[in-house]
Amino acid sequence: MNSLLTFLLFLCIVSSSYGRVFWPSDAFADESMINKGELNSGEFWPGNAYPVSYSGYNGGSVYNVINYGATGNGKTDDSQAFLKAWRDVCSSAGAAVPVLLVPGGRTYLLTNIEFTGPCRSKSIHVQIQGTLLAPRSMNLYRNKDKWIRFMDINSLVVDGGGVIDGQGFEWWNACEGSGHSCDDRPTALLFHNCNNLQLNGLKHVNSAKNHISINGCQGVTFSNLQIVAPKDSPNTDGIDISKSQQINIQNSVIATGDDCIAINGFCSDINITGVTCGPGHGISIGSLGKNGIYETVEQVHVKDCVIRETQNGARIKTWQGGSGYVRKVTFENITIIAAKNPIIIDQNYDAMEIDGQKSSSGLQITDITYRGIHGSSAVADAISFNCNNANGCTNIVLDNVKLTSISPGKRAIASCKDVSGRSISSFPTVPCLSS
Ligand SMILES: *[C@@H]1O[C@H](CO)[C@@H](O)[C@H](O)[C@H]1NC(C)=O
Ligand SMILES: *[C@@H]1O[C@H](CO)[C@@H](O)[C@H](O)[C@H]1NC(C)=O
Repeated sequence: MNSLLTFLLFLCIVSSSYGRVFWPSDAFADESMINKGELNSGEFWPGNAYPVSYSGYNGGSVYNVINYGATGNGKTDDSQAFLKAWRDVCSSAGAAVPVLLVPGGRTYLLTNIEFTGPCRSKSIHVQIQGTLLAPRSMNLYRNKDKWIRFMDINSLVVDGGGVIDGQGFEWWNACEGSGHSCDDRPTALLFHNCNNLQLNGLKHVNSAKNHISINGCQGVTFSNLQIVAPKDSPNTDGIDISKSQQINIQNSVIATGDDCIAINGFCSDINITGVTCGPGHGISIGSLGKNGIYETVEQVHVKDCVIRETQNGARIKTWQGGSGYVRKVTFENITIIAAKNPIIIDQNYDAMEIDGQKSSSGLQITDITYRGIHGSSAVADAISFNCNNANGCTNIVLDNVKLTSISPGKRAIASCKDVSGRSISSFPTVPCLSS
């Protein structure tokens, strides 16, 4: 009797929390699915405690990983089942958008996995409702630089409210130990060459290195993400962007051990809005120009964000000896709470020696605006502009910036070198800027 009540209660909760639930009768509503054998009520119901919701676009075919042999028991490697399902998704033709469905209430252990296009359909929907789990042991990785990769797929939508769990502990410990290269660690989720990409509403935890990397993508929207790792986990960037354009990152919470968002070379038109960042290293452009290379970043707008208890707030960092530029960047309406280095530009990062001479040149840094930045600094230097004497940083504008020290009775200060621009009603005052 008790169990029947619990069961009925469970049904109520499930049916109210999913837009549409597959009841046996419902499952047969969409002929295209039955014909493909994707839906088999016996497998979902009543044997399966978790009814599978469906929210594919335009009634596109649903390819459920369970029907391809995924166990979802968190112990068996489900990678092959995912790949088989992916092959069918990616070769699905027709106007409707095919769906790769990873049902909820289960945990899927995956070793390195690559979802590779190009696909036949104009768009692909990957709905992750369950948890994707990385192997706990480093030895189980065949590839040490990425765990899950999506590559060469146009108009990919990834959503479903699930979890991507990188289980990075062993990697972090090895990294702190001696004789192991820290660089050699997997990014949890990599999008490579995916144009018109959307990632929405997933939770990303404990990656061995970057949680999400975007490389070579144009037209990307990330929204409602939650990215979480311990604040002392090494190099666990939230989102790392390189060689990509037209990116929107919005309404997300990022709390990790390194940069919340890092913007690397050859990126432009990047809007970051409504992001709460911290702990971590803040929102960073760079470092750029390492080993004397040419790199560029332009048109970055960071707006309506909260940066809390981070090692840096809004940071731009370029190496000496590099070339290229960072220009047209705005940080606007940012609340900073107890961050070290709330506003920082370092154009002199680690001077490099060329023919025994320290190079003094570097990337051009110009047209950088900080508008409406309020809050507190955990170190005395709330604003630090350290530019180099060959280029200098030009047209740096502070407009309505107010930063105080978190230590009672202490004043926040600003330091500057080789920087020009202006300051409008801002505190602490930056001696190099005109008012
Ligand atoms: C970013 O914001 C700017 C200014 O509001 C806008 O012109 C641009 O189109 C936006 N870019 C993207 C990728 O949405
Ligand atoms: C400033 O950003 C906060 C989020 O941190 C937002 O709630 C607020 O509406 C923004 N203010 C303006 C004037 O846009």
